[in-house]
Amino acid sequence: MRTRLTELLDIEHPVMLAGMGGVSYSALVAAVSEAGGFGCFGASTMSGDEMVAEIRAAKALTDKPLGVDLLTAMPDRLMTDVEALIREGASVFAAGLGVPRDVITLCHEHNVLVLSMCGKVRHAIAAVEAGCDIVVAQGTEAGGHTGQVATLPLVPQVVDAVGDRVPVVAAGGIFDGRGIAAALMLGAVGVNLGTRFLASKEAPISEEWKQAILRAQSEQAAKVEVLNDISPVPGTVGYGTVLRSLPTPFLEEWSAKRGEASRERDRLRQHLVSTHQAGRQHDTLLTAGQTADLVVYLRTLSGKPPWSEVEREVKRIEGEAR
Ligand SMILES: Cc1cc2nc3c(=O)[nH]c(=O)nc-3n(C[C@H](O)[C@H](O)[C@H](O)COP(=O)(O)O)c2cc1C
Repeated sequence: MRTRLTELLDIEHPVMLAGMGGVSYSALVAAVSEAGGFGCFGASTMSGDEMVAEIRAAKALTDKPLGVDLLTAMPDRLMTDVEALIREGASVFAAGLGVPRDVITLCHEHNVLVLSMCGKVRHAIAAVEAGCDIVVAQGTEAGGHTGQVATLPLVPQVVDAVGDRVPVVAAGGIFDGRGIAAALMLGAVGVNLGTRFLASKEAPISEEWKQAILRAQSEQAAKVEVLNDISPVPGTVGYGTVLRSLPTPFLEEWSAKRGEASRERDRLRQHLVSTHQAGRQHDTLLTAGQTADLVVYLRTLSGKPPWSEVEREVKRIEGEAR
């Protein structure tokens, strides 16, 4: 299937792996790129050195194009990280929350495309006016930090606003060929999938998190406002985003006492970091979108290359969309 996105990114299928912080690491990124989609690192949770090591690890597994997502809400390290991803050969810089113009200029000087995640029409317009090359219209159904507007009304509005200037990719609530077909009908030229790839063998998250996704019901993937009390960036930097997660004892406890959560912000944030580092993020956060109910486990067949199952899945999803 050829679209403006497959042409621009030089990929076979209009399916992107979302740059999920803590999830989109080398094995998963390489698997999706090698399968003909576009693998994108979620590097917002990595140190600069770790990001470089991860890009090199993916490049050892595939010579296909790949990208890197960073949250621009962390300005102190943004420029250094962007310089590093350019040096390491990424072809796309995906910007989680807004993109400073000097970063766009730097990327364009090195033929690196800039992708902007947008949950509102006016953010998409601002991104394109600043020089971004691709806009992802991300509906509220998505896992991770999202805005208020759902994918179905958001995508055609963003397409009407900026689709004549840049390719628009749909994200949020899409998990199979039906969703891709719908996104294309709305005027998008591809899809950016997160939750769909969470419960895959290559995703370096705990088995408990994967099982929770397989067991979940859509309505359990809810916005957790308390996270913005504990960790104001990126939720309160003007984009009004709130993280969507399945329930955990931590979220239930602190959602009931948000004032105390704000006051104990430093301790709780440290707790989030340490559970993450211990591979026990499921004790605190089970980030997932509303497709959690619909995801099936992508199991790698033993003895096959690590991307065999993902490749089949990407092709199957695209076949359904046709
Ligand atoms: C676990 C998880 C982590 C995410 N982390 C990021 C991130 O670091 N930066 C970002 O721009 N988007 C992030 N997202 C959002 C994705 O980029 C994407 O928009 C979303 O997953 C698409 O919706 P879906 O989950 O319904 O497929 C994350 C999503 C998930 C599920």
